[in-house]
Amino acid sequence: PKTRAEYLEAIVRLKKEKNAVLLAHYYQEADIQDIADFVGDSLGLSRKAAETDADIIVFAGVHFMAETAKIINPTKKVILPDVNAGCSLAESAPAGPFKAFVEAHPDHIVVTYINCTAEIKAMSDIICTSSNAVDIINSLPKDQKIICAPDRNLGEYLNQQTGRDMLLWDGACMVHEAFAMDKILDLHKDNPKAKFIAHPESEQQVLRVASFVGSTEKLLHFVETDEAEEYIVATEAGILHEMQKRVPHKTLIPAPAKEDNTCACSECHFMKMNTLEKLYLCLKNETPEIDVPEEIRKKALVPLERMFELSK
Ligand code: 13P
Ligand code: SF4
Repeated sequence: PKTRAEYLEAIVRLKKEKNAVLLAHYYQEADIQDIADFVGDSLGLSRKAAETDADIIVFAGVHFMAETAKIINPTKKVILPDVNAGCSLAESAPAGPFKAFVEAHPDHIVVTYINCTAEIKAMSDIICTSSNAVDIINSLPKDQKIICAPDRNLGEYLNQQTGRDMLLWDGACMVHEAFAMDKILDLHKDNPKAKFIAHPESEQQVLRVASFVGSTEKLLHFVETDEAEEYIVATEAGILHEMQKRVPHKTLIPAPAKEDNTCACSECHFMKMNTLEKLYLCLKNETPEIDVPEEIRKKALVPLERMFELSK
């Protein structure tokens, strides 16, 4: 294939020939979202990965998402268009220091955000996503001591929402930390009717002024059901593609990022490493394949299954 249309056609054909399912996150480029079999947030994607009867799972997302699909589905082939599509948040929790942290607090249970490596999942008691974190934490006894990792912004937000005092790991997502508060306030002055909504990986100063805080799926649902006509949206800009499809008549403005950010809005360069060409090659060659050592996989599956159990 040479043209965009030829790539799209070839990907759809290969998917069918190989009985492959294409799962894409809302932060993927528009073309990839449009030809995916399912587009979703981290919780939706992990549920789909658990349900599929395809032979191959092509994950148009980042490494920890493909790894999660493999943990759930060890007999299936899981492929990722670019093996270097990592995640700054997952990187902010390296296995060695995290192990020491957990061992230093043996009376705490470990509730870990799905944005982490398989090794970190293997050291955790329950996995959560931004869609189910509040409910999962609320389901635990009030006096339960909890480590919440790896995102300190999400952790602080969850402490406020649940009235807990969880011990937080000091990690963050560089995309959600890039929003410029002064620019958001200026933008809001220029668009006074716009509601400001944000993802909970954003900093507290951003979340404090938001009318609504939620995961990508919850932000989409909010905009669909809320009565306002304009929104300033503080999460990775790829979500605007699906959001605009759901509310074609509404005005959506991406929240501005700080000067030193690589683009005016916040784009995750890891998510954007997946391209149509790489997706085509990945399906054609069935590589790069994601594998998880069996010992780690078995341990990492336990807290993921607890998450599914607690968020039915
Ligand atoms: P959700 O889509 O689950 O809200 O996750 C956001 C994110 O940053 C994924 O990397
Ligand atoms: Fe990781 Fe942030 Fe990119 Fe999501 S947006 S993949 S949390 S770096």
